[in-house]
Amino acid sequence: MTNELMARRQAVLGPNVPTFYDNPVHLVRGSGVWAWDMDGNKYLDCYNNVPHVGHCHPHVVAAISEQAATLNTHTRYLHDGIVSYGERLTAKFQMELDQVIMVCSGSEANDIALRMAQAMTGKVGIISTDNTYHGNTMAVSQLSSRKPPIGGYAAHVRHVPAPDTLRPVGGSFANQAEAFAKEIQKAIDDLEAAGHGFSGFLFCPTFANEGLPDLPQNFMRPAERVIKAAGGVLISDEVQPGFGRSGGTWWGHDWLGLSPDVVTLGKPMANGHPVAAVVARSEVMSAFRNAFGYFNTFGGNPVSCAAAAATLDVIEQDNLVENARIIGGEFLERLAQISHSSIASLRGRGLFVALELEKDGEADERLAAHVVEYARNHGMLMGRTGRNRNILKLRPPMPFCSADTECATHILADAFAVDVT
Ligand SMILES: Cc1ncc(COP(=O)(O)O)c(C=O)c1O
Repeated sequence: MTNELMARRQAVLGPNVPTFYDNPVHLVRGSGVWAWDMDGNKYLDCYNNVPHVGHCHPHVVAAISEQAATLNTHTRYLHDGIVSYGERLTAKFQMELDQVIMVCSGSEANDIALRMAQAMTGKVGIISTDNTYHGNTMAVSQLSSRKPPIGGYAAHVRHVPAPDTLRPVGGSFANQAEAFAKEIQKAIDDLEAAGHGFSGFLFCPTFANEGLPDLPQNFMRPAERVIKAAGGVLISDEVQPGFGRSGGTWWGHDWLGLSPDVVTLGKPMANGHPVAAVVARSEVMSAFRNAFGYFNTFGGNPVSCAAAAATLDVIEQDNLVENARIIGGEFLERLAQISHSSIASLRGRGLFVALELEKDGEADERLAAHVVEYARNHGMLMGRTGRNRNILKLRPPMPFCSADTECATHILADAFAVDVT
């Protein structure tokens, strides 16, 4: 059945549409932090951040179906859903981040953020890190480092070295924040000299796609100074860390003590329903609205707003932001008990944990692949990331509990106990 479906999938979707795992998982059902495949096998989901409040949460499901059975239309008609949700959402941000555009994907949100930076500055130069992903539109994919665009990167784009735990920018962990800011300053000077000017810096405040490096809480302060002194727009991509994933704070930029001008949101926002948003200062929103006509047929429709509002309800009612802090800490403590010569770094921020594997000073991609496949074959979903795909990535739905950390740690310990040399 799996092979037959794979063949049909490839025939109709074309090549290079990857699935996870050597033996792809054919999921048919989910509930909370668990998912089931078509043979009835159960998996502890330690990977998926989109079902943020748990797979198929009944409150979100009910909100979607009720609104879908009542009315779905677009934002050119008056509807309370987007207004009430926008008010609730912006109340979660620093005072000045008080206006919102709703869209359907993180890529769209970042695309708008780039245009906001242009509208605010009248310039086009943009900077991101050199080991990242921010989305799939033509403009945003210029910032992604995984596959260079055809014809090479556009002349107005600069990539600065990404922060790193084992190989810090500038050569030492203590100097990394200043060295990172210096790299940004160099890129700004370069963009100005080339005539593009500097419009902004787009970054993920946990540097999640960069491999979740260990950072002190004041890490971005020198970079923020440099960016603001140059008149650039600071864009915080909260698609991964947002809605409390980093534990204790709703947003990654709050953990870093930053004041971004624009914040983009996505994945977890409506528990799997395609909803994303851009939150901005009102002067940034006005500049954007004056410079560009923007309409999004599906963005902010009543069903999407109902899904997003219901997701907020659950995060608030079940105290999931605090749960991420407490259970994330517990998860790290348990994982620290696993001893293996290749575990070069264990780090985490709330319910996002990374284990970086190295052997003789080199990325141990082979072991990382083994652990991920072992987990899949023993009832747990997880992934890996990093320039060399040697960083294990655990990012479960937010209702993850103590017993789940115990179960996940057991499976990982067993995976590491297998001799793969
Ligand atoms: C940090 C970050 N930003 C933006 C995106 C793009 O979001 P979407 O896939 O919803 O377009 C992603 C997707 O993986 C992401 O990880």
